[in-house]
Amino acid sequence: MPRLRGPVLIKPEGETGWPLINEHLFGDSGTGGNNVTVRPEVLPIDWAQIMGRDAPRTLEIGFNRGKFLMELAQRWPDHDHIGIEIRRRFCWRFANIWGPDPDAPRNVRVVWADAKRVVSDLFPPGSLQAVFVNFPDPWWKRRHEKRRLIQPDFALELQTQLAVGGEVWVKSDVADIAAEIDAALAAAPGFEGPTPFGEADLPLTYREVKCVAAGMPIYRFRYRRVALPEGASPLASASAPASEAPPEG
Ligand SMILES: C[S@@+](CC[C@H](N)C(=O)[O-])C[C@H]1O[C@@H](n2cnc3c(N)ncnc32)[C@H](O)[C@@H]1O
Repeated sequence: MPRLRGPVLIKPEGETGWPLINEHLFGDSGTGGNNVTVRPEVLPIDWAQIMGRDAPRTLEIGFNRGKFLMELAQRWPDHDHIGIEIRRRFCWRFANIWGPDPDAPRNVRVVWADAKRVVSDLFPPGSLQAVFVNFPDPWWKRRHEKRRLIQPDFALELQTQLAVGGEVWVKSDVADIAAEIDAALAAAPGFEGPTPFGEADLPLTYREVKCVAAGMPIYRFRYRRVALPEGASPLASASAPASEAPPEG
């Protein structure tokens, strides 16, 4: 399946631009990236109308070349899969490759935006069946640490968007980043884990293929959303210190 090359500078528009839903969300398929907010007139998002059916929904944050997203769409055909990616070229390329392809799975859509800004507008609480966080950027420099994707506040947001029984699946090749994500998820009330998973449980991402080939350790674990005890606040503090590295999957 991996067809990862394609035009990155052509704005996807019209009928063949269907994989990218920025026009619907933000008014133009050329509007997206860091600072966009969803147009109030399309809220709440009518996913059944966008997807043409009402199916359980998943989210991949940072889909990059889209290898994992498209393979997951084929592997889990009964689900609808939404990818959010902050970089325009990956979103436009994805739409320009798959939009004109009559054989492309239709249970996938992508959004060019900062996931942290748009997730709560895109998905009602309890509406996601799975969230995939695959090899998030490590942002090594101390002054850039704040840019890391899974911080305690975002862990709480993901917990809110997941359905009870839904799961957040994490993969990383960086032990410290895996440990930090593990700590953020463990501290959010309503998450149970971590449970390790294996290479074969999900499609491989573009980066994962390289890590596997190089024999690098990969940390793979998931947390399941469980019901909160009666009276418990979903907003309890999630600021536990980073734990030891979570299990390698
Ligand atoms: C290290 S790459 C991993 C790509 C891919 N998941 C893989 O495993 O091959 C991280 C990706 O996340 C995207 N990204 C980073 N922060 C993001 C955010 N806040 N919202 C959406 N995408 C983001 C980056 O642009 C990049 O494509």
